[in-house]
Amino acid sequence: MSSADKPRLLPLLTTNPKGGRSSITCLYRCGNACAHDAPNTSDNTYFADVVADVVNRRKMLKAGAVIAVAGAGMATAAGTAAATPGHGGGHGGGHGGGHGHGGTGLDFEPVAPNDLDALVVPKGYEQGVVIRWGDPVVPGAPRFDFEKQTAAAQARQFGYNNDFCGLVPLGRDRYLMVSNHEYTTESAMFHGYDPENPTREQAEIAWAAHGLSVVVVEEGRRGGLEVKLDRHYNRRITMTTPFEVSGPAAGSKYLKTKADPTGRRVLGTQNNCAGGVTPWGTILSGEENFNQYFANADGVTDPVAKARNTRYGVTGGASQRKWERFDERFDLAKNPNEVNRFGWVVEIDPLDPHSTPVKHTALGRFKHEGANVIVAKSGHVVAYMGDDERFDYLYKFVTDGKYKPGNSRYAREHNKKLLDSGTLYVAKLTGDSPAAEIDGSGAVPSDGEFDGSGEWIPLVRNDKSFVPGFTAEEVYVFTRLAADVVGPTKMDRPEDVEPSLKNGRIYAALTNNTDRGKAGKEGATEPNPRVANKHGHVLELAERRGDHTGTRFSWKLLLLCGDPASPDTYFAGYDKSQVSPISCPDNVAFDSKGNLWISTDGNALSHNDGLFAVPVEGRERGHVKQFLTVPDGAETCGPVVTDDFVLVSVQHPGELDGASADTPLSHWPDGGTSQPRPSVVAVWKKRR
Ligand code: FEO
Ligand code: CA
Ligand code: CA
Repeated sequence: MSSADKPRLLPLLTTNPKGGRSSITCLYRCGNACAHDAPNTSDNTYFADVVADVVNRRKMLKAGAVIAVAGAGMATAAGTAAATPGHGGGHGGGHGGGHGHGGTGLDFEPVAPNDLDALVVPKGYEQGVVIRWGDPVVPGAPRFDFEKQTAAAQARQFGYNNDFCGLVPLGRDRYLMVSNHEYTTESAMFHGYDPENPTREQAEIAWAAHGLSVVVVEEGRRGGLEVKLDRHYNRRITMTTPFEVSGPAAGSKYLKTKADPTGRRVLGTQNNCAGGVTPWGTILSGEENFNQYFANADGVTDPVAKARNTRYGVTGGASQRKWERFDERFDLAKNPNEVNRFGWVVEIDPLDPHSTPVKHTALGRFKHEGANVIVAKSGHVVAYMGDDERFDYLYKFVTDGKYKPGNSRYAREHNKKLLDSGTLYVAKLTGDSPAAEIDGSGAVPSDGEFDGSGEWIPLVRNDKSFVPGFTAEEVYVFTRLAADVVGPTKMDRPEDVEPSLKNGRIYAALTNNTDRGKAGKEGATEPNPRVANKHGHVLELAERRGDHTGTRFSWKLLLLCGDPASPDTYFAGYDKSQVSPISCPDNVAFDSKGNLWISTDGNALSHNDGLFAVPVEGRERGHVKQFLTVPDGAETCGPVVTDDFVLVSVQHPGELDGASADTPLSHWPDGGTSQPRPSVVAVWKKRR
């Protein structure tokens, strides 16, 4: 065991208010979104009453597998993600699934909640850092030197605060690993950082530390993944990388700026949060809290533009990072349209390192958490998406074209255009229990479930708007405002939304919403049944007859998170004395057996965040078990679960109130007196 692996307790007296995110995280990650009123003030209350991983290599389970072989005959190779869209006709619970210990291969001993400055895995498992902030990505990149950072070096090194992580298979035991770098925490990156007077170099380092990284990784002989400094594939995408705008709103008047009169070419991507791997081997990544990077919204005088900005949380004067001082495109008073060029789903093709990444306007503009696709039985591709804000919505997009299987150049080029044309929908969920039984306490209604039916309401298809008073172009660029008109269900921060390729159902993490039920805010609804929802919940949605292109669905809540000893929690009816406490579900993933894996962000149970696994079928449905915990102050992100290893992104370790580069409150992962560094970690079962 290296010193880095040894659990180290943090100082006992930090000023971090345990139970939720630190205020530093709130400031840098989402521009203090929770300190502001939720931007959805629409009068939408009438309705309110109411590539698992394509990245999983499909091979026989073997000794040393992360997930145990649970019973003879269960370990069969699955087809490709695209070929096995699954059947979503009925809801699970009580049928099918596995047998034996753990039932579904999840036979690890759960990790206990803790506050350690360490990543803790179950007995019998090993861990290793794959890559950390500042490690070389491009061959020839300098070694990281915290004391001598430069923008030029950072642009060739692994960026900051890695969130989503995705794997695209390259060959036997070899992958392209793609990571999002959601945001920068300048106070932790630079000694003596003065937030009122950042330097140009600090701003440019931050631009280079945003974006994405692509690296080749190989499975090591002793487990884990090793980064290869590959000349062909390894790549950084930053705040200055050119993106092509595609889809129906490309060239829109709302996207044109002085620097780009075409409205078709944007420099950079921001606040890339979660994402997904497509069956054609590209990465979709969501631009989330883009609003915080833009200054002087209060200098925008056009009332229509102002109202639109406000709905996206684009308000106020100087921005937190003051980038407007170094590039006037971040100054809305001078460049009012630049902000409209962010808030999209972007697509990166890691297999073509010279390709220009794309911003997909057809998928709408909001605080995109991510996008995950499934190939419907008909061959159309369906992307599921969440808008991560209190009282915002769930969306899906159905392509006009059909998926072409295979890896030929022709098929890939065809598939890469699929997300340019189709129909964008927003979700309305209706409960089936009497409103009086949804009292905000989390008490299960008399029919035994928080459940009901739902409808996908079309917003726009190419040049045709379905929203009264909105042109198609306006629906795409100002999607939140258009959606408000048609009365979708206000949700409790929809984060990752992902279809299971095993059962075809869709799982959405609803992280929390402590504003629900506050004066002037919407109260409990069956799909969001707790007021002051601190711990969040997980929604399971089944498209009618398993048709992902359809407009009707049923839904039920799989989990109401929190302390299982508390009466306001629910674990799909599973014995609550047997489950791990879980709070603030954020990212979701699936293993090859179809178990759901959930990472958390902002554990409000006074302990570190973690990664959890839960079967969604059979007798074990609802049996939540904690697989790992991340260091104090960190968030668990980007889980990838293959048969051989689990990957997690450890974002913002030690980001606790009072922490800074001068007073670090974590020394993870390198131990000693080192600065904390966001990293990707692999976990694998000890070889026998
Ligand atoms: Fe970046 Fe919605 O979390
Ligand atoms: Ca019900
Ligand atoms: Ca997230």
